Amino acid sequence: MSSAVAYDRRLKALLSRSRNIARWIRDQLASPTGKETEPHFVREYQHLVTKALALYPTDKAMSLVVGGNFDRAGDAQRALLRWIGLRDGMRLLDFGCGSGRLASALAREAMRIDYYGIEVDQRLLDFAKSKASGHFRFATSHALTIPAPDASADMVCAFSVFTHLRQSETYLYLEDIRRVLRPGGKLVFSFLEFAQPLYWKIFEETLSKERRNMLPHLNEFIERNAIQVWCEKLGYEIQTFISGDAAPWGDPGPLGQSVAVLSRSSRNPVSGSGNI
Ligand SMILES: C[S@@+](CC[C@H](N)C(=O)[O-])C[C@H]1O[C@@H](n2cnc3c(N)ncnc32)[C@H](O)[C@@H]1O
Repeated sequence: MSSAVAYDRRLKALLSRSRNIARWIRDQLASPTGKETEPHFVREYQHLVTKALALYPTDKAMSLVVGGNFDRAGDAQRALLRWIGLRDGMRLLDFGCGSGRLASALAREAMRIDYYGIEVDQRLLDFAKSKASGHFRFATSHALTIPAPDASADMVCAFSVFTHLRQSETYLYLEDIRRVLRPGGKLVFSFLEFAQPLYWKIFEETLSKERRNMLPHLNEFIERNAIQVWCEKLGYEIQTFISGDAAPWGDPGPLGQSVAVLSRSSRNPVSGSGNI
């Protein structure tokens, strides 16, 4: 073997080893234990559910993990959706349906909705199924896309979900939800904003955990002007914003988080807004 060929082989082997080392370092930085391959929201919720089930009876654990007030919160979500136009016969996609606060409220009123709930944690989803009408459909998904066909929903809701995702993740979901909505279909989601003094204590809890070097459960704030920019880029119209202490739908009162009601506009997304 000529010395040039031998040199070439040694160089290739060296390059391959350094690529492996670079990959290993990147994986270590992305995941401190080097073992987690799931997105942060899957790890966080699976951990929360496991902890709650170890500490409390099932019903209480399943309510606490999604924010508590199981029946009242579900009734408020149903009242809001009815207020913006949810009717029997419609196709509703409940993104991040949790343990079924909304599914159970819809079943309590025997609404004849074509309901589809999506959730990351199987235990929450099984509990939601047990509280829902028999024909309601559910699926688990860990992806940054929505597992549903184009134009298959009249309405999509996401209650207290984008509050626990990074803004870039929320943006990707909004992009895909537009695909899943029929033209003119509505998207309703709740969010936290600094303009609402009620939510300051949530931010303070995060600050307090950061100060103690504890990894906080992500509570992401989204400002209305960010939502406006996203809507322009993604092809949504803003129908209305509702503050977390208001309840224009009446009983049983406010949701406790601000709400954005958007509709899928006929305007196409600004090119280059996604799939970068
Ligand atoms: C605070 S809980 C609210 C649950 C439900 N929407 C409600 O109001 O009762 C947030 C839920 O979103 C789910 N979730 C978080 N990230 C998600 C994602 N990327 N895809 C689907 N579900 C997600 C969590 O597992 C959790 O059940």
